[in-house]
Amino acid sequence: MIPYEEVILEHWRNPRNKGRLPAPDVDVVEANPLCGDVIRLQLEVRDGRVKDVRFDGRGCAISQAAASLLTEMIKGKTIPDLKGFSDQELLTALGGVVKTRLSCALLPLRALKKALSSL
Ligand code: FES
Repeated sequence: MIPYEEVILEHWRNPRNKGRLPAPDVDVVEANPLCGDVIRLQLEVRDGRVKDVRFDGRGCAISQAAASLLTEMIKGKTIPDLKGFSDQELLTALGGVVKTRLSCALLPLRALKKALSSL
């Protein structure tokens, strides 16, 4: 497994799916109450799947890199699959995250859960 520092740095330097969708079906903003950093997540949903996704926001490298990674992981997935998406799946894909930074790493996943609850 790639160490989490490398995953974070790679996504931080080359964020995937960053920006805005022209006509999202869902558009949510989630903030980390500990620091005020925010992630905006937009989904385009077709036939029960995530057809396209974008994120934007401001925050630490971990939260922004985790958002980039999450967008790659959810594109093309069905909504029921995503409702079962766990914290551990994202943390594993990140290569593990030190416990003190869990709220940073999981901020984009909280945004995703908020987005799914509005569908
Ligand atoms: Fe704010 Fe990481 S320090 S999300």
